[in-house]
Amino acid sequence: MKKQTVLTGITTTGTPHLGNYVGAIKPAIQASRDEQVQSYYFLADFHALVKNQNPEEIVQSTLEIAATWLALGLDTNSAVFYRQSDIPEIPELTWLLTCSTAKGLMNRSHAYKAAVQENLDASEDPDFGITMGLFCYPILMAADILMFNANKVPVGKDQIQHLEMARDIAQRFNHHYGELFELPEAAVDDHVAVLPGQDGRKMSKSYNNTIPLWLPEKKLRKAIMKILTNSLEPGEPKDPDDSALFKLYSAFASSSQRAEMRQAYLDGIAWGEAKQLTFELINSDLAEARERYFALISEPAVIEEELKRGAEKARSFATPFLARIRHAAGIRLLG
Ligand code: TRP
Repeated sequence: MKKQTVLTGITTTGTPHLGNYVGAIKPAIQASRDEQVQSYYFLADFHALVKNQNPEEIVQSTLEIAATWLALGLDTNSAVFYRQSDIPEIPELTWLLTCSTAKGLMNRSHAYKAAVQENLDASEDPDFGITMGLFCYPILMAADILMFNANKVPVGKDQIQHLEMARDIAQRFNHHYGELFELPEAAVDDHVAVLPGQDGRKMSKSYNNTIPLWLPEKKLRKAIMKILTNSLEPGEPKDPDDSALFKLYSAFASSSQRAEMRQAYLDGIAWGEAKQLTFELINSDLAEARERYFALISEPAVIEEELKRGAEKARSFATPFLARIRHAAGIRLLG
């Protein structure tokens, strides 16, 4: 039986933070060890251009995200780990799909509609600042997925619409040119921890409340000390279920550690001590990987090598598959 193909992309903007680690990277690396599946993980640098047009930031983010996944132990012998822009078949497939994708489907995109609405609210022209990259983003994403006939695509809730669009695009193409694509499904994990940021809201770049994953030890400690708590004194019982600090601790703790800490809150542990213990737990989880990360970051050639190898593996599937798709669409040798 053919293995299930699991595929996901990471947009190369920004620096990885604790929320990315707990919510996406760690579960993905764990899932990639499952021998029943073939995983594809890639750096979506073409997608990054839609959001960021600063070349130095794009390349820095690509380096940091690649080093992060490798430092955290992604096994690149079993998973295929590559950079989107190393696979020329993807933009080519994007065009083939673009020609049979209804503009009306793209008009319904939440991200596009939100950008238009923002313009209307600001009494601007509805198209102000909107690129074709933003408008066609879902087609590129469909090509990422369909290029490898992925069955399961682990994503956050905000990406569900993109997966529905990828299915629509695949179905229309199949209907016209014959059964080429399998229909991908979004895999949204509701059990995965959503980390709070320093202010207690969801840790997110858009709230500016993130704790970067690879802070040096002292800075990590400082960042954790800054997490918002209430004014209860040492000795006063504290509600673990109403505490961002406890949530953060829990995301890294074993179930017995979590139960012990819960009791400590009820027994009135001082916030300072709870923070120190949270720092120690997170720090011990990350310390070894952090060394590997800084070693990798200083040797980009090693990372390049990994990505090249990944691209070769990815293309060993994509090149012959694209040849079939081209043929089906009438892009063929003459005679
Ligand atoms: N759009 C996704 C995000 O912002 C990133 C992405 C690009 C992706 N291509 C993909 C995710 C293909 C899954 C499959 O998170």
